[in-house]
Amino acid sequence: MNRICVTGGAGFIASNYIKFALDEYPDLHIVNLDKLTYAGNMDNLKDIDESRHTFINGDIADADVVRKAMDGCDAIINFAADSHVDRSIMEASDFIATNVRGVHNIVEAAKEMKTHRVLLVSTDEVYGSIESGSFVETDPLGPRNPYSATKAGGELLGMTYFHTFDVPVIVTRGSNTYGPNQYPEKVLPLFVTNAIDDEPLPLYGDGKNVRDWLYVEDHARGIDHALRHGEPGQVYNVSGSNEKENVTLTHKILELVGKGPDLIKPIQDRPGHDRRYSIDDTKLMGLGWKPLTSWEDGMAKTVKWYQDNEWWWRKIKSGEFREYYERQYGNK
Ligand code: NAD
Ligand code: TYD
Repeated sequence: MNRICVTGGAGFIASNYIKFALDEYPDLHIVNLDKLTYAGNMDNLKDIDESRHTFINGDIADADVVRKAMDGCDAIINFAADSHVDRSIMEASDFIATNVRGVHNIVEAAKEMKTHRVLLVSTDEVYGSIESGSFVETDPLGPRNPYSATKAGGELLGMTYFHTFDVPVIVTRGSNTYGPNQYPEKVLPLFVTNAIDDEPLPLYGDGKNVRDWLYVEDHARGIDHALRHGEPGQVYNVSGSNEKENVTLTHKILELVGKGPDLIKPIQDRPGHDRRYSIDDTKLMGLGWKPLTSWEDGMAKTVKWYQDNEWWWRKIKSGEFREYYERQYGNK
């Protein structure tokens, strides 16, 4: 696999994937198709070797653009998505266009071009909430917010192309991911950057919802492992094995930034807020992958990155972000 098409490559996880993959595979060339929505940011790719990266500014919901980007590629990894639950609760139509129609364009193009591998990056959220125990890949899906419903729709539609047309589709379902370059609407970078600025940390509900935290490099390696060692037609969970209540995460952030608990501001809960996500990753571990970054190291590295890279997030937290922040938190 010397030429891989990566969609959404200017976003959080995909930009980290591109840096990892160019480093790991010296002969690799990446074709990066990204619409540059509010979440796409070319600063995320600042230091990469441009001679091994072709950037195409385009929309995966446009079938012609998708075919053009995939032409001559051995594989495609679809990261492109509208990815924030709270935004999907406000307005879901872009989520449907990108997360469902976009995936359809990709598998259609892969069928036509006989692409060697199609990896669809999905999320643990498609299973829905689980009180105890962990979901395995064969469990039924039960998405409970518009974001996760569109991700479930996209991956299910994508997988039908394996069963119906022999398109070599693989799906990964990853846990909540954290690390450098994450858009500060997600809880971790939002709380870190707010804490740096002595702004309140808006904690939803009782703060006892549980998320499983996966360091971004471990997620990137997990996706790459499934791409190269996984079997077409299969789904692989990618877990961080680090389940934390949101309140525990919040206290950890405050400790690392060196601020007190008075910044925590409990606010009205998210509608349909899933209580706990938990997935079993025995299947991907069986192929030889495992997460390498501990919670302690991952959190310390991540908080330090936001402390050292104010140039990256300060410009994001003005403009469009401010408008969103007001809409999301202003009346709560
Ligand atoms: P992100 O929001 O940081 O980045 C998304 C990227 O996709 C941006 O660069 C954006 O410009 C691009 N994009 C959006 N719509 C597009 C379109 N129509 N055509 C082309 N490009 C488009 O997302 P992320 O958090 O890095 O997530 C990447 C993938 O991983 C998504 O598929 C998401 O569902 C999945 N995922 C994320 C997490 C997480 O915790 N962030 C966990 C599991 C799975
Ligand atoms: P988020 O980062 O939005 O990821 P997801 O909804 O995909 O899991 O949220 C992670 C957890 O943090 C989730 O339980 C909701 C909670 N949360 C807050 O308490 N306050 C916030 O401002 C945000 C954005 C999230």
